[in-house]
Amino acid sequence: MKRVIVGITGGIAAYKAAEVVRGLCTRGIEVHVLMTEAATRFITPLTMQTLSGNPVVVDMFAEPRLWNVQHVAYARRADLVLVAPATASFIGRLAAGIADDMVCATILATKAPVVIAPAMNSQMYRHPAVQANLDRLRDMGYHLIAPEEGELACGERGEGRLAEVARIIAEVLKHLERKADLAGKNIMITAGPTREYIDPVRFVSNPSSGKMGYALAGAARDRGARVVLVSGPTALRPPSGVQVIPVTTTAEMLAAVLEHFPEMDVVIKAAAVVDYRPQTTAEQKLKKGSDKLVLTLERNPDILKLLGERKGDKILVGFAAETQSLVENAREKIKAKNLDLIVANDVGQRGAGFGTDTNIATIIRRDGTMREIPLCSKQELAHHILDEVVALTGGERG
Ligand code: CTP
Repeated sequence: MKRVIVGITGGIAAYKAAEVVRGLCTRGIEVHVLMTEAATRFITPLTMQTLSGNPVVVDMFAEPRLWNVQHVAYARRADLVLVAPATASFIGRLAAGIADDMVCATILATKAPVVIAPAMNSQMYRHPAVQANLDRLRDMGYHLIAPEEGELACGERGEGRLAEVARIIAEVLKHLERKADLAGKNIMITAGPTREYIDPVRFVSNPSSGKMGYALAGAARDRGARVVLVSGPTALRPPSGVQVIPVTTTAEMLAAVLEHFPEMDVVIKAAAVVDYRPQTTAEQKLKKGSDKLVLTLERNPDILKLLGERKGDKILVGFAAETQSLVENAREKIKAKNLDLIVANDVGQRGAGFGTDTNIATIIRRDGTMREIPLCSKQELAHHILDEVVALTGGERG
């Protein structure tokens, strides 16, 4: 039996948590509810206790009724932690790592996947502080269920309404099912840009943020894989529990990838590799001289193509960043690089490509069949890609 810890924080949508808990229980899930003090102003612990059939914890310092050292006990026993609704202040506390309530403390202490469903007034939701905190939670590998647009309890209309109960339950079930379908697999993911130095302080690169690769690394880890993340320079914090190999140049990325390739079952190349490097790198900083500076660039090795040549029975997944003829170009790359899958992004579209938190993609298989993935978070896209990988390794596609 799967065990879900449901955290309820203090917003008017807390009453909907009752339906969520009921829905999870009727699907045979063991539910334990943790509430913040503020949540108890909106819905009573007794209601949640009756629906879940288990004691509810509000006060971290109360005598434990079930397990000792409560937050650690819940954290260890959880198959998944869900927070619904998550208020702005809860999101801020978690983003800052402040563990002064049972819900935050449990999440900080857990290794289980964490699903968070924010709900608040639309102005609050759009506030840069809240958005920055949500970005931080996303970077930490938490799964966010975006709130919906509609009538809010405060009378306004806008974005901020707790996601539909059915959507929350579906998301929880999806993560519970997914949990271990990559257990025992070794997956290498490349992420971020590479840099090719012109002189000690200048380089040729691209605006890749690394978010797609890091989302893949976190998702693969959550699904039980051993993950090696070969990363170019990024501003991101790597997901915990992942082996990170930092690299700067394409040559360094190639060396790291080749070193780990033999022990891998799956390689996903999300890195935006710089295709050309300056023929020479000046040892000293170049000084302004003439009006023109001509750089001669030479081809870098195509890492993915080299892997394709020695692929064997490993699964190889590439990315194709295109601004035109998306599907045709991507199909060409599958052939040219001997890939099993390619994830084609139209980087010209709003919400797709470099630096964004979202992506729009078409996943194309070796046999040419494809699956369109509409605008979604990079985390969600990561799971869609891994669903395809699991299908190729003989498992079921989710
Ligand atoms: N790639 C790589 N090594 C390179 C260039 C690209 O491993 N030197 C990988 C990327 O990580 C990505 C895929 O190849 O998975 C496609 O990269 P992309 O830049 O879209 O295409 P290219 O193959 O470089 O072709 P072009 O730039 O001509 O579109």
